[in-house]
Amino acid sequence: MHMIELHDVSKTYQLGKEVTVPAARDLNLRVEPGEFVIITGRSGSGKTTLLNLTAGLTRPTAGQVLVDGVDIWGLSDKEQAALRNRQIGFVFQFPSLLPSLTSLENVMLPTMFGSKEGRLDVQARATRLLEEVGLTDKLHAYPRQLSAGQQQRVVVARALVNQPALLLADEPTSDLDEETEHEIMALFEAFHARTGVTILLVTHTTQLVPYGTRALAMASGSIVNGGAATGVS
Ligand SMILES: Nc1ncnc2c1ncn2[C@@H]1O[C@H](COP(=O)(O)OP(=O)(O)O)[C@@H](O)[C@H]1O
Ligand SMILES: [Mg+2]
Repeated sequence: MHMIELHDVSKTYQLGKEVTVPAARDLNLRVEPGEFVIITGRSGSGKTTLLNLTAGLTRPTAGQVLVDGVDIWGLSDKEQAALRNRQIGFVFQFPSLLPSLTSLENVMLPTMFGSKEGRLDVQARATRLLEEVGLTDKLHAYPRQLSAGQQQRVVVARALVNQPALLLADEPTSDLDEETEHEIMALFEAFHARTGVTILLVTHTTQLVPYGTRALAMASGSIVNGGAATGVS
């Protein structure tokens, strides 16, 4: 079974009566469990749209999106939210930590919805994740007390707290200097190696390509090349 399948997926935004923006055009993509796929493309090429379509955050104008074999637009809103919360971790492009919560509380937040686990178990797992991203001494720090790179580490830990099968990352290092970028990418690599989580990461820079197991490129809403490594199916 594929982790992600996009079949002829298109998304057209309607701006006013006359103007339409084709943000995604006939996307066909298959990602196998355990792959770490990196999609590169310049600003406006449709990368965020592709991630949002995959996550069920944007409804396709045409085509089918399957996650772990499930047609996500065939689900009710509630089922879709449950699938998203249980199966998918997100690292968004823009800062997304809640300023009034500590690192530990931010990481625990996604477990508060529909989880039957005890709070202590969750807290132990969140603590371990924060240790793994190198923030043992920042468990009780607030986002404003952390550097941009440290905040992004918290975001990565939070994305993994529900032990997702799929991790979607939207330009997770775009605000960071090169060294910090490498540190964050090394974290993705380490989690990928340890847990076998499937990762789909999009970025405007081809510099990140070596971290993945397969690279693809987007332009004008289409996937334009198959990259290398395991090849395109
Ligand atoms: N909500 C929206 N409404 C209208 N146009 C949008 C919307 N979201 C994205 N677009 C347009 O779709 C295209 C692709 O955008 P996006 O997926 O954000 O690209 P990227 O993430 O590669 O920068 C762009 O032309 C953008 O302006
Ligand atoms: Mg984007």
